[in-house]
Amino acid sequence: MREATRRAAGLQAGGWAKELRSRVEGYFDDLASEWHTRGSPQRTAVVTDALVRGLDPMVPSVGLVLEVGSGIGSYSNLLAARFVTVLAVDLSRAMLQQAPVGPARRVQADGATLPVGDGSAAAIVLINVFLFPTEVERVLSPEGVLVWVNTSGENTPIYLSVDDLVAALPGEWTGKSSSAGEGHWCVLRRA
Ligand SMILES: C[S@@+](CC[C@H](N)C(=O)[O-])C[C@H]1O[C@@H](n2cnc3c(N)ncnc32)[C@H](O)[C@@H]1O
Repeated sequence: MREATRRAAGLQAGGWAKELRSRVEGYFDDLASEWHTRGSPQRTAVVTDALVRGLDPMVPSVGLVLEVGSGIGSYSNLLAARFVTVLAVDLSRAMLQQAPVGPARRVQADGATLPVGDGSAAAIVLINVFLFPTEVERVLSPEGVLVWVNTSGENTPIYLSVDDLVAALPGEWTGKSSSAGEGHWCVLRRA
């Protein structure tokens, strides 16, 4: 997962190749039925902290939020409380099938080719998920905000440090990073 994370972010050679995408999709399809066992109050607290201390002061609660790699939808309700529309995107159909019907609209798609227009998202939320920098740049509105959360900090399999995150994104970004329990988070917008 570390290598795949760096390849997706363009920090390591190889890129998000078809074969890697297919392996990742199969891996998460196989985990979908037991993914609910990985949730915990501590992990939810990390996400909540990122939203309350990071996102809320930076973005008005309007418009579209993209939750990429939404999994079984554990955190969609936290986003639905803040945004008019939550579009939850996941590569794994099996993960999406485990998610509740609401409060998000759920779509099977690749975060590398998001099914939305240029500049259409007020926020993109990535919780334990791959970063696809050029797609973030394309889809975020000019004032849009990127939320990055690793709920187990450096022990998160899909992990990037804040320095790597900022280095991978095109252009200049500014924002806030912090930790909560074992988790790390970062909320960024274009400088
Ligand atoms: C580690 S899980 C995290 C799920 C959820 N965000 C959470 O924290 O519980 C990663 C999720 O990203 C999805 N995923 C992996 N690659 C993806 C891609 N290229 N585009 C969209 N989703 C992807 C997986 O299917 C899986 O549901």
